[in-house]
Amino acid sequence: MKKILVVTYSQSGQLNSIVSNVMRAVQGKAQIHWEHLKPIPEFPFPWKDIRFWDAQPECVEMIPSGLQAFDFNPDEDFDLIILGYPIWFLSPPIPLTTFLKSDEAKQVMRGKPIITIIGSRNMWVSAQEDIKGMVADNGGNLAGNISLRDRHHNLPSVITIIHWMTTGRKDRLWGIFPLPGISGEDIHDARKFGYPILKALETGRYNDLQEKLLALRSVEIIPGVLSIERKGKRIFHVWSKFIRKKGEAGNPERIPRLKMFKWYLLFVIFFVSPIVSLFFYITYPFFYSGIRENLKYYSGVDFKS
Ligand SMILES: Cc1cc2nc3c(=O)[nH]c(=O)nc-3n(C[C@H](O)[C@H](O)[C@H](O)COP(=O)(O)O)c2cc1C
Repeated sequence: MKKILVVTYSQSGQLNSIVSNVMRAVQGKAQIHWEHLKPIPEFPFPWKDIRFWDAQPECVEMIPSGLQAFDFNPDEDFDLIILGYPIWFLSPPIPLTTFLKSDEAKQVMRGKPIITIIGSRNMWVSAQEDIKGMVADNGGNLAGNISLRDRHHNLPSVITIIHWMTTGRKDRLWGIFPLPGISGEDIHDARKFGYPILKALETGRYNDLQEKLLALRSVEIIPGVLSIERKGKRIFHVWSKFIRKKGEAGNPERIPRLKMFKWYLLFVIFFVSPIVSLFFYITYPFFYSGIRENLKYYSGVDFKS
C-alpha cells in the first residue's frame, strides 16, 4: 500500500474538514498518517484582541515557534505529502512555518511530491508563495494545490471572519451578515479533488495533476483581490519589522505599535481598498496581458524564487 503523510493545522476544524473530504477518495486505498500540528504555546481560539494582532510580525517574517514532538517517523518513506493550512496575515500560520523549518520536515520531504490544501478568507496567494519557497528549500516537489475561500464580498467577509475568530461563533453577526468562512457546499464538494490525487498516487505521475485539479476549479483567483493582496504583503513586511523592533511576540512594549497596525489595517481595508479596486478595474484593459500572466502563474505550482 502507498503511504501518505497529511500534515495540517486548523483551529476551528474548518481546514481539517476540507482535507478529510479531499482524502475520502483515497481512504482504504492508501495508508494515511495524519499529523495534527500542536503548537507550544497553543494559539488561543477564540482569539483575544491584542493577541490576534500580535501574531502578525512572526507570521509575516516566518519565524518558527514551538511544536509538540511529531508522531510521524521522519525516516519513513512516504509516497505523497499533503500540507493543509489556513492563512494568517497573508502568510503561512506560524505552526506550519515551524513544521516546514524543522529538520524532520527537511528529512521527510526530500524528493517527495507535495500537495497543498488551503482554507482561507480570500487572500492566500502570497502565503502560498512563501510555502512554495519552503517546500523548495526542503527538496520537495510541489505537485498540486487546492485553495478554498469564503466567496462573500471582501468587505463583509473581513467583518464576519473577525467576529468568528474573536468569539469562536460561526454564526450570522446580528442576523444580517452572511455566515463566516467557506460554505458548507464547497467543503462538502472538496471530495471531488480526491480522484485525480488517487490517480496520481497509483500511477506515480504527478506532472499533470495541477491541470486536472484546476479543471475541477481547485483554485479561483479574483484579479482585484490579488492586486490588493500583493501590495498588502509588501506593506505588511514594513509593519512586521517596525513592530519587532519592540521585542518578541508577547512583549507588552509591542502593544502601542500593534494597536497602530490594527487601526491602519482596518482603515486601509474599508476606506483605501475600495478606491484601489475601482482604479484597478478602470485600468484593467491597459494591463490585461500582465494580469492574465499573473493569474496563470499564481494558479500553478511553479516557483519563481
Ligand atoms: C490571525 C489570523 C489571521 C488571518 N489572516 C488571514 C488572511 O490574511 N487572509 C485570509 O484569507 N484569511 C485569513 N484568516 C482566516 C484564515 O485563513 C482561516 O480561514 C480561519 O482562520 C479558519 O481556519 P481554521 O481551519 O484554522 O479554523 C486569518 C485568521 C487568523 C486567525
